[in-house]
Amino acid sequence: MPELYIGLMSGTSMDGIDAALVEFDCNHINLIGSHSHSIPQSLKKKLQLLSLDSAEVSLDALGEADTHLGLIFADAVKSLLNESSIKAERVTAIGSHGQTIRHRPDLKHRFSMQIGDANQISYLTGITTVADFRRKDMAAGGEGAPLAPAFHQQVFHSEKENRAILNIGGISNITFLPKDKKQNCFGFDTGPGNTLMDAWIQKHKNKSYDNNGLWAASSTPDQTLVNTLMQDAFISTKPPKSTGREHYHLDWLNQQLQKGHCQLDESQIQASLCQFTSDSIIYAIENFLPDTDTLIVCGGGAHNANLMNHLSEKLIKTKLSSSEDYGIHPDWVEAVAFAWLAKQTIENRPGNLPAVTGAEAPTILGAIYPA
Ligand SMILES: Nc1ncnc2c1ncn2[C@@H]1O[C@H](COP(=O)(O)OP(=O)(O)O)[C@@H](O)[C@H]1O
Ligand SMILES: [Mg+2]
Repeated sequence: MPELYIGLMSGTSMDGIDAALVEFDCNHINLIGSHSHSIPQSLKKKLQLLSLDSAEVSLDALGEADTHLGLIFADAVKSLLNESSIKAERVTAIGSHGQTIRHRPDLKHRFSMQIGDANQISYLTGITTVADFRRKDMAAGGEGAPLAPAFHQQVFHSEKENRAILNIGGISNITFLPKDKKQNCFGFDTGPGNTLMDAWIQKHKNKSYDNNGLWAASSTPDQTLVNTLMQDAFISTKPPKSTGREHYHLDWLNQQLQKGHCQLDESQIQASLCQFTSDSIIYAIENFLPDTDTLIVCGGGAHNANLMNHLSEKLIKTKLSSSEDYGIHPDWVEAVAFAWLAKQTIENRPGNLPAVTGAEAPTILGAIYPA
């Protein structure tokens, strides 16, 4: 009998909670249901505040947000099950990534904090829940991120060609899967994904994102601004590396605009941000990835036609494709990854790749909250 797992993901964009119902049938992974659950605006504001590096956070605010988000995650699972006409008893476990509010592998006592209380999720859904995936990898000396590469390897690896998986979320990250399995797979953040474009259109048009990249496409990128943005040190830093909203945000952008680009109009800036996002991804592929035959794109940025056009124009030897061509719609790859990671944990198997995170050894990730 095939087993069912649920993956819950809420990324840096905070555009909503992705809930995926996944069937594991021998070696086949099938996405059999999906549901996108909105985060109440008031909670989203609190989460955004909590994730600001400079924020002074009260323990009460943190504790309440943790519980509130746990309740919303449980609601997301219930809606998913309802829409898919599946009973909770059929589901072996939920893998919940949680909402990252801080990721500090750089401190002496390193930590990563994801919230959304898994006690609430397991109690309210009646389904065993696995959460807190990152800190075991950190305990083993790893960065705690990225964790999707082990899943990418399972699903997207080919012995015939070198593949890379590009996930364009708020931040953009890439996994390299060499065709020769004796070579290590690796992964890192390339820089901003949608976050700067989202922040700019939110500020000037009060929209949460630039639908299909149409606003950016209505103007022309300013090459000198793109050059300034590309000088940001993170872009040329050698992997392993990771970044977040604490680095790429509106204040950072305003500082860059002060460097002689204040005369540009708003749409030109949006067009330049789109090109910067694309150029930083191309930079990573050309400088850090050896001979990528196929680039497989997933994440919300896959819907931004302007961004995808920029990418396809500049990729010369690499074929551009969508995760959909390999059986998983680009909106659900990350959530499916956390269903897979939960299954690894429940079956006492490791979920990290030491070559990717820098951990000393493969470890079983997460904590299990029984139903
Ligand atoms: N139709 C679209 N056109 C342009 N951008 C889109 C579209 N749909 C989604 N996006 C972008 O994708 C983002 C969400 O991507 P997602 O992969 O969920 O990121 P995260 O993992 O950070 O939550 C949105 O904030 C938006 O910028
Ligand atoms: Mg999202």
